[in-house]
Amino acid sequence: MSRASAPGSYGDTAAILDVSRGRNAAAGITGLLLYDGERFLQAIEGPEEATAACYGRIHNDPRHYALRLLSQEEISDREFGIWSMAYRVPRMDDTGAFLDQVRGDVRGVSDDYLRMLFTGFTVRR
Ligand SMILES: Cc1cc2nc3c(=O)[nH]c(=O)nc-3n(C[C@H](O)[C@H](O)[C@H](O)COP(=O)(O)O)c2cc1C
Repeated sequence: MSRASAPGSYGDTAAILDVSRGRNAAAGITGLLLYDGERFLQAIEGPEEATAACYGRIHNDPRHYALRLLSQEEISDREFGIWSMAYRVPRMDDTGAFLDQVRGDVRGVSDDYLRMLFTGFTVRR
């Protein structure tokens, strides 16, 4: 989880995503990224070395700050295996749709904590 350096810039995030998907596919990394205009929540998974390198690059990216690692686990099966990096943002006219979308995305995720993190993220204070 992190905070965007330039809140609201969905265009920047599209660029981030373009690069991410290419690199992740090449490195065998899969995951899910949520952005609500202010905050990011992301899961990355894959071979240990590749995910560590990816996390290192993300960590040093000035387009966000206050990065917190919420969970790090060794897993035997991927939770987000079909996506090189799925990306979800809220619809401004219907914030409930964000929750519905993400709830669907994480339906197959076996880790309760991950499911809770992703669905909880969609609910604004
Ligand atoms: C919120 C956020 C999520 C990102 N996710 C990924 C990702 O999943 N994979 C990736 O390769 N880069 C990701 N990046 C981009 C990296 O920080 C970095 O810009 C990119 O990997 C290119 O690295 P390089 O300039 O060292 O080649 C993300 C950046 C941000 C701000």
